[in-house]
Amino acid sequence: MMTRRQVNSGILASAALAAVPTFAATQKLKRIDLPPPRPEGGMPLMNALKLRRSTREYSDKPLPAQTLSDLLWAAFGINRPNGDRTAPYGRHIMVIDIYVAMVDGVWIYEPKTHNLLPHLTGDIRAQTGRQDFVGTAPLNLVYVAHGERLMDESPEERRLLCSVDTGFIGQNVYLFCASEGLGTVFRGSVDYPKLKRILKLPRQQFVTFAQTVGYPRT
Ligand SMILES: Cc1cc2nc3c(=O)[nH]c(=O)nc-3n(C[C@H](O)[C@H](O)[C@H](O)COP(=O)(O)O)c2cc1C
Repeated sequence: MMTRRQVNSGILASAALAAVPTFAATQKLKRIDLPPPRPEGGMPLMNALKLRRSTREYSDKPLPAQTLSDLLWAAFGINRPNGDRTAPYGRHIMVIDIYVAMVDGVWIYEPKTHNLLPHLTGDIRAQTGRQDFVGTAPLNLVYVAHGERLMDESPEERRLLCSVDTGFIGQNVYLFCASEGLGTVFRGSVDYPKLKRILKLPRQQFVTFAQTVGYPRT
């Protein structure tokens, strides 16, 4: 039987392979090397908690690269030398990838190198949810679970673990956004089969939730 560490290192290796995009799908899309995150600063936690809320009206102003970098690090970046993250995860098996849908395409956040790996060309923002604002807000995070890493669990337990793991990431995003004056909303109103098709996910992978981020429309 493999230890959890062996399982995780296998996961990281296969994640690197799985994340390599097909040429046809990514001809024009480039890897985005994010600036290093600034893991200092931000507002005091209690103030951020006071401001945390859901926002459903956004300006179309894009996020600066530094803000995107800090946001993704806060969401699920590496915060310790052993590769562990800013959010906890069940069974000590990492199952969530963050897909980043912006106007030009979709990337996958790679925490180890802190960059965005190209996944799909084209604007799929409107397909990430059933609400109108998702199509115009600058950024939609789509949380994708590697169900194949939890095949020892029942389907119900698998869903539960993946949903809880996602929820912790989602709350990190909420608090970061509160601290930065950004708006966000965690979303379950998603056409899941359609989004899975659009993202070309393998059979055992599935979308858990999505989350919109942008500047609130004033
Ligand atoms: C699991 C979950 C799913 C949600 N799905 C949606 C959604 O699809 N659309 C939406 O506008 N808000 C969604 N929300 C946000 C909630 O509606 C919101 O958190 C709640 O109304 C409380 O408002 P607040 O976040 O401003 O405190 C969801 C929240 C959670 C935790």
